[in-house]
Amino acid sequence: MSDRLFIFDTTLRDGEQVPGCQLNTVEKIEVAKALEELGVDVIEAGFPVSSPGDFNSVVEISKAVTWPTICALTRAVENDIRVAADSLTYAKRKRIHTGIGTSDYHIRYKFNSTREEILERAVACVKYARRFVEDVQFYAEDAGRTDNEYLARVIEAVIKAGATVVNIPDTTGYCLPQQFGEKIKYLMEHVDGIHKVTIATHCHNDLGLATANTMAGVLNGARQAEVTINGIGERAGNTSLEEVAMILKSHRELCIDTNINTPRISAVSRMVSNLMNMPVQPNKAIVGRNAFAHSSGIHQDGVLKNRESYEIIDPKDVGVDENSIVLTARSGRAALKHRLHVLGIDLDKDALDKAYEAFLKLADRKKEINDDDVMLIAGEHHKAKHRLKLDFLQVTSGVGVKSVASIGLDIAGEKFEACASGNGPVDAAIQAIKHIIRRKMHVKEFLIQAINHGSNDVGKVHITVEHEGVNYYGFSANTDIIAASAEAFIDAINKFVR
Ligand code: KIV
Ligand code: ZN
Repeated sequence: MSDRLFIFDTTLRDGEQVPGCQLNTVEKIEVAKALEELGVDVIEAGFPVSSPGDFNSVVEISKAVTWPTICALTRAVENDIRVAADSLTYAKRKRIHTGIGTSDYHIRYKFNSTREEILERAVACVKYARRFVEDVQFYAEDAGRTDNEYLARVIEAVIKAGATVVNIPDTTGYCLPQQFGEKIKYLMEHVDGIHKVTIATHCHNDLGLATANTMAGVLNGARQAEVTINGIGERAGNTSLEEVAMILKSHRELCIDTNINTPRISAVSRMVSNLMNMPVQPNKAIVGRNAFAHSSGIHQDGVLKNRESYEIIDPKDVGVDENSIVLTARSGRAALKHRLHVLGIDLDKDALDKAYEAFLKLADRKKEINDDDVMLIAGEHHKAKHRLKLDFLQVTSGVGVKSVASIGLDIAGEKFEACASGNGPVDAAIQAIKHIIRRKMHVKEFLIQAINHGSNDVGKVHITVEHEGVNYYGFSANTDIIAASAEAFIDAINKFVR
């Protein structure tokens, strides 16, 4: 008989906290539905007290999703808990996730408090949350650096107070797998009543050990893993859902199953990467572009003779369809629609028409349209709603001459033009835009990425623009990287010019 590991996905809370990854409510619902289809057990939908937007997202996700438990995060503060309970009104299965820092670092420096006082606050918040819901999860923030004996006392007390799930986060990603495993083992052996509740891991990736620590926790008795799609999350991120799911699927000898519908992994990974504008590193395990690409001659020869010589996972098991139809300028709307569906995107007729138009334009410039291109095209229709649009852009540049750009912008239907020079074509285009949009703003970060290979590739541009002390994120993709840079700059400006 296999054991079951519950998958708690926090892409929409810990993942969404990352600067530049913010989603609107509609996008969050889209992700939540994809997570439901993927088979996650719990969706942490937000931190409702943090903003009206977060509150509203938890409400709407609760309405939209049927099977997974919807979880809302709080601090150990009564008002947070009341607001979280309110936001969960429509959830079919609901959970409040409340807690407090238990390491001496948190107790001394964050709370200026004592171990005894923190223990009392932990118990009080669990008891208070139990007034509103039956399923209460307690987190001991920075449990990774918390003294085991004290942690055991806190956990025993919150279980007595009514916690149903106890989360042991390695908040700073500090632990070694052996230490983290021993911590879970210590709790399993020293806490009265621990077998009545589920122990959860929540590991951060600061030392690249998040998945290893999660697995060490699971092997020592944890039965809920807190994860995110593509491992996104605070700083270096959280444990990747796809890694944990595929480790357990590959190592059948562990006799631990998840409910993850693994062939959906690839589509959900792309959806999250695209909506959150967070590229996946090409060599990322399971979902990276190169995860199943064999480039050396020896490897290719081995794989052709027998796939298992170099592959431990069948790409189809994570939804990588090797025989996917190659889309070209001759492909019809139906082929594009099918490819979008395989990638987890269903567009209505209008959006599909617009996507098809964009597809044909791109196919004119690029021989083969791959999945990354299709995902970018699908995102294009969001841009149509922008107040500020690029009308035209002409740039002259070269060696030994100054770069000059002339640009036309459409601002809510009115046309504006400007010319500027710069220390390169991108700078010239940005200066020209600044001549039209006379706001104080400066580019803080600028990143160009090629998606595939070859000189006909699509370039993705990520940009961060600071305006009045706030950072705004912009993104675009185009086979012309100067155009992509100008569009990304305009995308960021659209977020503060209303
Ligand atoms: O990393 C952490 O400790 C958290 C908690 C709020 C669970 O995200
Ligand atoms: Zn976290």
